[in-house]
Amino acid sequence: MKRAWVAAAAALVLAVLALVASFPGGRADLSSPEDTAFLWDGLYLGKQTFADVPYVSTPYEVVHEMIRMADVRADDVVYDLGCGDGRLVIEAARLTGCRGVGVDIDGELIALCRSRAKAAGVDERTRFVTQDFFETDVREATVMLIYLLPEINLRLRPKFLREMKPGSRVVSHVFDMGDWRPDARSLVGWRSVYLWVIPANVTGDWSWAPAEEPGQSHTLRIRQDFQRIRGELIRAGGRIGISAPRLSGDRITFHVVQDVGGVPVRTQYEGVVEGNTITGTVVSGSGVRAVRWHAVRDPSTAGRIDEGPRISELSRD
Ligand SMILES: C[S@@+](CC[C@H](N)C(=O)[O-])C[C@H]1O[C@@H](n2cnc3c(N)ncnc32)[C@H](O)[C@@H]1O
Repeated sequence: MKRAWVAAAAALVLAVLALVASFPGGRADLSSPEDTAFLWDGLYLGKQTFADVPYVSTPYEVVHEMIRMADVRADDVVYDLGCGDGRLVIEAARLTGCRGVGVDIDGELIALCRSRAKAAGVDERTRFVTQDFFETDVREATVMLIYLLPEINLRLRPKFLREMKPGSRVVSHVFDMGDWRPDARSLVGWRSVYLWVIPANVTGDWSWAPAEEPGQSHTLRIRQDFQRIRGELIRAGGRIGISAPRLSGDRITFHVVQDVGGVPVRTQYEGVVEGNTITGTVVSGSGVRAVRWHAVRDPSTAGRIDEGPRISELSRD
């Protein structure tokens, strides 16, 4: 409830800023940012062109928390859609050695980003593009840092899930992603910072021939709601629900407990998802020997992960 109020209040602040920034004659020269008027840190009431979100910059303590939460490394490619003065991308590149791309609809802000990147010594590892971010191809982004608005996050959400690779991270300042629950959240003063890890799509029916039962076939039927999964194992002896299912990026783990002659025997599965295959290991019983696990999905059974049945509706039968 409190979170909803904070989000609503922040949306109102941004809406007021949008209105003020749209007044004619209110435009200042962004080529000399030191001369522009700030009411307080991050609030710029000078010249701007915007389409969907007004320009309000992220305070540096939040920038640093976003970079920390995303666990940005030198081999990452960090994107900021609606990059403003470029501080998220520039600071990530400066602190970690990563590459970065900033996209903004305002060409003057993009010119400012380029001069700031040069001054910070990261211009060779960063790129700034004047573009509507709904048109941006984000397939190379391994980290997405954003400060937008709730409905814009929701409009970009399918794009992130479709284009970014499993295991990539999305970090948002203040606003969440609706019913896509974050994997982590932290607070910097009153400001929330949210982290999501892009999950692999594991929906559908996965089959394999178990080493211990020659001639048999096992099928794992998975239903998925963003990163949350539930499933059942279908084999000659019937169906059995999987326990402790977990999906983090492209890594899936779960176990199955079967009754063998009145004794519960636990089998642990873990694997890496790549398209329509899962490759990993199965450990049964006492756990002394790990057997290779290679499951293949029937592609016709795969569904979407952001508009399927809610996890609460998934059957346990
Ligand atoms: C709230 S500011 C965030 C600035 C920066 N990311 C930060 O956190 O400091 C949002 C930015 O999005 C830009 N923007 C708004 N609509 C856009 C669109 N459709 N395409 C690209 N940029 C857009 C605005 O010009 C503004 O700079």
